[in-house]
Amino acid sequence: MENTAFEPIVEMKNVGLAYGDNPPVLKDIDFSFRRGSLHFLTGKSGAGKTSLLSMLYLAQRPTFGTLKVFGSNVAMTDREKMAFLRRRIGVVFQDFRLLEHLSVFDNVALPLRLKGMKEKEIRQRVIELLAWVDLSPNMYVKASEISGGEKQRVAIARAVINRPELLLADEPTGNVDNEIAYKLMKLFAELNRLGTTVVIATHSEELMQRYNYPRLKLENGHLEYIK
Ligand SMILES: Nc1ncnc2c1ncn2[C@@H]1O[C@H](COP(=O)(O)OP(=O)(O)O)[C@@H](O)[C@H]1O
Ligand SMILES: [Mg+2]
Repeated sequence: MENTAFEPIVEMKNVGLAYGDNPPVLKDIDFSFRRGSLHFLTGKSGAGKTSLLSMLYLAQRPTFGTLKVFGSNVAMTDREKMAFLRRRIGVVFQDFRLLEHLSVFDNVALPLRLKGMKEKEIRQRVIELLAWVDLSPNMYVKASEISGGEKQRVAIARAVINRPELLLADEPTGNVDNEIAYKLMKLFAELNRLGTTVVIATHSEELMQRYNYPRLKLENGHLEYIK
């Protein structure tokens, strides 16, 4: 196996992003995420948090500059390899993107089923994680029938069930009350302790002040590091 322990998990050099012919929303971003780090990504609504994350989860390539994820330059990576890299990344989408017609259990089990894990082990892992995010009573309810805060926790459970190397969470505490937000932060911290690199987009000052993690702030398309 190649020795990648000291290589950043994500490396951005002069990365920029423009939608169509519009002026770029992200400019000259130079930053690397070390393996095992946890960062907040902040900035006002419209600052580009979701856009930056979408490049990191390989939904779009940078318009300018160089982005390497797990050591692969995304500009030179074909679709098949991209799909393979994507499986190592857990994403909590701001708009959840659950399969609404499936139960909570089946939504969370999906990444494990795609991997071909045995149903018995799937049950064990899904049940344990759903208990952690306080969703046991909703386990067999359809995703279309639960609240926004519950959907958010399903989205988080689905993103972490596979123990991804990189977890990208887009405003993951935006729809839950403080008590649950702190519990979710505990889950992220625990995953981070076990080795997952975590990026949490948030505009909650309260959340950032409560936890002493470094912040990356987007403003006017630029990324600023704030310890
Ligand atoms: N698919 C898109 N096409 C065109 N413009 C977009 C698209 N997605 C986002 N934008 C624009 O990019 C800017 C940054 O948006 P976004 O990344 O969603 O910011 P944030 O997540 O910080 O609120 C905004 O001006 C937004 O309107
Ligand atoms: Mg956003």
